[in-house]
Amino acid sequence: MTAKPFFYDITLRDANQALANPWNKEEKEVVFRQLLKLGVQGVEVGFPIASEMDFESCQNLAEVTAKLASQGDKAAANVVISALARAKTVDIQKAWDAVKEAPKPRIHVFLAMSPLSMEHVLQMEPMEVRKQAIEAVVFAKSLVGEKGDVEFSPEHFGDCNENFDFVLESLKQIAQAGATTINLPNTVERYRPMLFVDMVRKVVEALPKNITVSVHCHNDLGMATATTVESYFAGSAQMECALNGLGERSGNTNMFEVAVALHNCGVEMDMNLNEIYETALLTSKWAKVPIYSKAPLIGIEAIAHRSGIHQDGASKTKNMKKGAYRPIDYSLIGRNENDILTFTSQSGKTAVYEILNHNGYPVDLDEAAELQPVLKEISESEGELSDSRILEIFKEKCCNLNGRVIFRTIDVIPEENRFVFKFQKDGAAQEESISAEGPIEAALLLSRKIGLPVELNSYKQSVVSDADKLWAGRALSEITLSANGKTIVGRGVSSDTLVANMRAIFGGINKLYR
Ligand code: KIV
Ligand code: ZN
Repeated sequence: MTAKPFFYDITLRDANQALANPWNKEEKEVVFRQLLKLGVQGVEVGFPIASEMDFESCQNLAEVTAKLASQGDKAAANVVISALARAKTVDIQKAWDAVKEAPKPRIHVFLAMSPLSMEHVLQMEPMEVRKQAIEAVVFAKSLVGEKGDVEFSPEHFGDCNENFDFVLESLKQIAQAGATTINLPNTVERYRPMLFVDMVRKVVEALPKNITVSVHCHNDLGMATATTVESYFAGSAQMECALNGLGERSGNTNMFEVAVALHNCGVEMDMNLNEIYETALLTSKWAKVPIYSKAPLIGIEAIAHRSGIHQDGASKTKNMKKGAYRPIDYSLIGRNENDILTFTSQSGKTAVYEILNHNGYPVDLDEAAELQPVLKEISESEGELSDSRILEIFKEKCCNLNGRVIFRTIDVIPEENRFVFKFQKDGAAQEESISAEGPIEAALLLSRKIGLPVELNSYKQSVVSDADKLWAGRALSEITLSANGKTIVGRGVSSDTLVANMRAIFGGINKLYR
């Protein structure tokens, strides 16, 4: 097993160069400060030779980091601040000038080594390429001295299965020349993940142990996360990833997916995973790139369940760390909801139960099951039903049960003039035992005992009569209650008269103390 993952963020460089409006100094600083909160180990702050604006942005971030570190900020003191450079003296000098003030500066030199790029893009012989790479690393090393370090990337490494022996030998010599991180880019994702991972493993085995092997995967075929995660297990300790998976074309490896996948596999890391959701929202805002609704972990729909079977599983495991239909407990990444159940023609009784209870109508599963076919039929013509539409149909088809639930579950157990109430008040489970002549009196005494006193003005129980009402034949309790000068009618319906009474009273108390 390799070392702790070293998360190297490339949003400010690789993703930034692909934005319609690349970030200026101020914008980069906002995202950079969030990266420090997230707790990444390295940040590639830009490509200083690309423009004066990028040079100044990089310089600013190096200075910000130095200042924060001098004020005792541990994240700033430990983070590697890197700038990208082609294997050219002018680029390398510019990169160094941009980041040299950072506590841990790095120069990242790259040069293509795939047969296609060497022949048609660089138009150079392989041995010339090797020589240029070594000379560039020697120069970079002479600048960083003991303060910083040098990373080297053979661009298009993913295509180097064709000339692997040449590249491996080159990387050994480049490491000897002073590069301590060898980054392997899948510059264009063309093949299957394990072909790339096998090459990564061979590089890890061939290089000295003090060299960090890194991967940098683009997502052209949608497999960058898989390739990066498996590369980690093949010995690559540094992972170059971007926030929200932004980057050239279909992007770079998504940082959040990699971090969560490794976390789920029990890998220890220094990233603050609970900053992920906040970071994703902030990145989307500043990049002006909306988060795809189905994006893993951060998409709005990533926690939505619509089919009946999934809703049932989600509901039964909703308070558990491991859910039937979700990869994580979403509080891990700072999302405050785990499962959203909505109603479509494919949804089941659980959705009805959850939606009504969530909105303050304490129906049970059997009652929800009776309403489900009604909603299904309507949904077949209207499409997905919003909560408010469901409540509207519920009230129209059933009974007018107004009121908000303070008491989510009401379990009344009569034992010879003693009534044990099990309920939830303000989210906390409680149990009270009350002596009284009957359950209604007991409920009124309970309301006083728990600080929500009400007066009973009138009480009526009948049978839901209207033949087209869904619950025709059930007991309907209507209880007028007052408190603090307000009077309301609480209603409850059930095939069990006691339950109907309790629903009426507690629904009424909820309304009065809303
Ligand atoms: O994708 C790539 O090859 C790069 C290099 C500069 C590392 O971004
Ligand atoms: Zn790249």
